[in-house]
Amino acid sequence: MLPQAELHVHLEGTAPPALIARIAKRNRIELPPGMLAPDGRFHFRDFLHFLNTYDLAASVIRTSEDYRNITYEYLSNVAREGGVYVELTASPDHAALVGLDDDAHYGGIAQGIDDARRDHGIESRILVSAVRNFGPEQALRVARRAAQRPHPYIVGFSLAGDERVAPAQFAPAYEVAAAAGLGCTIHAGEWQGPSAIREALKLPVTRLDHGARASEDPTLLHELAARGMTLNVCPTSNVVLGVYRSLSEHPLPHLHGSGVRVTLGSDDPPYFGASLAGEYALCAEHFGWSEQQLREVTAAAIDAAFCDEPLKAALRERLRAH
Ligand code: ADE
Ligand code: ZN
Repeated sequence: MLPQAELHVHLEGTAPPALIARIAKRNRIELPPGMLAPDGRFHFRDFLHFLNTYDLAASVIRTSEDYRNITYEYLSNVAREGGVYVELTASPDHAALVGLDDDAHYGGIAQGIDDARRDHGIESRILVSAVRNFGPEQALRVARRAAQRPHPYIVGFSLAGDERVAPAQFAPAYEVAAAAGLGCTIHAGEWQGPSAIREALKLPVTRLDHGARASEDPTLLHELAARGMTLNVCPTSNVVLGVYRSLSEHPLPHLHGSGVRVTLGSDDPPYFGASLAGEYALCAEHFGWSEQQLREVTAAAIDAAFCDEPLKAALRERLRAH
């Protein structure tokens, strides 16, 4: 098992239906109607419906211990399949909707990280994400709170949600996050095309979550490569949500072949039947990537990670020693 590292996964989105059901039971709440399909999987037709189902599942996650358990279970599973480092995208807006403050939210996540490190040797850090469709003012509030570093595991700032809300409006939030030394990334180029990606590049970001549609514009690809931007690509997510009809239409090989740095992410694994190790396997099987190429993916993720240099050095050593 090649050591893997993941920079693009949404924490609430890592909890499978069985775990959401267990948490709901413990919290004495009914499972939200419509959340699951008759076959027991999460139910969604398209991207906006997916976001809605995600919100329904998140609404049963209520306590610090819930966040600890979700974090622990996810990291344990990733570690069993060879994962060594994960940056978890946390959403304080989702936590606030159920009445959890930052201390309880990040405290629970951090406990899950510590327990998974103790039991499985995996390392993890937190990205604080705002939700685009909650608007730029709310994103600015989230960024200001993140800038105060409510927990030492917080290393970055990101923006998820409905990509139709344009990046430029979020410049004030990104300025605050970057000025506080947080690494910055943004969802772009999943649903919107090259011009929205160009707009995102005006923000102080060093990574893009998805970025796949940059493949439509050779000049943009050249710019991404020249700037050393890292794209955290999620092929399975893209195919299941319908950005591309099949893996053979997915532009990952084209992005990679254009000299753009890419990493692999599972995005919201149980929703898409994805896993970090599965994304690596898919690149070997469908795109013919060699072990050396997959090693470079992990190396790119370590390079682009927002954690401190001593941790990066330790991760590089784990990769080298394998
Ligand atoms: N929130 C959770 N998953 C997401 C995705 N793939 N894109 C945007 N927002 C998200
Ligand atoms: Zn995502």
